[in-house]
Amino acid sequence: MLVLGVESSCDETSVSIVRDGKEVLSNVINSQIKIHEKFGGVVPEIASRHHVYQVTMVFEEAFKVAGVKPEDIDLVAVTEGPGLIGSLLVGVNAAKTFAMMYKKPLIGVHHLAGHIYANAIEHDMKFPCIALLVSGGNTELIYMEDHFKFHIVGETLDDAVGEAYDKVARVVGLPYPGGPHVDRLAHLGKDTYKLPRVYLDDGSYNFSFSGLKSAVINLAHNANQRGEEINTNDLCASFQASVTEVLVRKTLALAKEKNVKNIIVAGGVSANKGLKERFMEEGKGFNISIPSIKLCTDNAAMIAAAGYYQHMVYPNEYADYTLNATASLELEERYPEE
Ligand code: KG4
Repeated sequence: MLVLGVESSCDETSVSIVRDGKEVLSNVINSQIKIHEKFGGVVPEIASRHHVYQVTMVFEEAFKVAGVKPEDIDLVAVTEGPGLIGSLLVGVNAAKTFAMMYKKPLIGVHHLAGHIYANAIEHDMKFPCIALLVSGGNTELIYMEDHFKFHIVGETLDDAVGEAYDKVARVVGLPYPGGPHVDRLAHLGKDTYKLPRVYLDDGSYNFSFSGLKSAVINLAHNANQRGEEINTNDLCASFQASVTEVLVRKTLALAKEKNVKNIIVAGGVSANKGLKERFMEEGKGFNISIPSIKLCTDNAAMIAAAGYYQHMVYPNEYADYTLNATASLELEERYPEE
């Protein structure tokens, strides 16, 4: 089965063609990072305009790279939400237009289901499993007993972890998006600054990163006022140690409580080397799956893969041409238990 995936929820225009949820024939990603860098974050209006400029070329490139024709496609899967509404609308309308032109079945896919199913491309997903979803907009612990059975057990009560990375990066003068830069510098420094581990032992599976972020900001500002120099590498290492300790400990605690051996990590922050290393160190005895870096951040192959499994679980649920984009969309709301 050839699935055409379309993703445009934030600042990446991406189109991909994936065979049977596994074989990625093409995964073309047009990133707007360079455009938004000077603003220190994604500017929604600019993002949607660039999706409009890029989307036709990204479609054409995806077919060229895959070496297939539009007529060969069996299913069109598009991110319907959550995300920036103007950005989402471009992908949804492009996918609807394609489906209408070539008379192909269409489904709307939840963006976070896409991140989770990025794991299914390189590994077989085994159930039950715990998914730790860490991105620029989300931090969630999800229990899955089977394909497309999502139970959110814990989530962030304030900032998402990627958001905290990006804000800390800005304070220490690193470019946007800051996550990869903080990760790189963290490996050059040591965990010497005393930073909080928020909710580490509170018995819940919720997270909070705004206190940690504020602690880093205050530390940098106080040092600045006293004319002291901050060791940026050590500060990045200390911040990363706090984040990864909380994420890994809570994920493993939930896996133990549910007696689950399979853990998957998903979302942009799953590209973090420190997180991967800590999971490998502390998660011995667990089967831990993390996508390779190119599948961690937003891309359409993950949407095509999710679309393939979604279609298996909900075989007769097709969208019609009234399919709309939804800026706020909970996983459990999109895929309710029968
Ligand atoms: O999943 P994603 O591409 O977009 C959504 O939020 O949906 O995630 C982007 C986030 C950004 O906050 C970025 O800084 C973060 O993922 N990120 C990282 C790393 N690579 C990307 N954070 C920490 N370490 C990394 N290596």
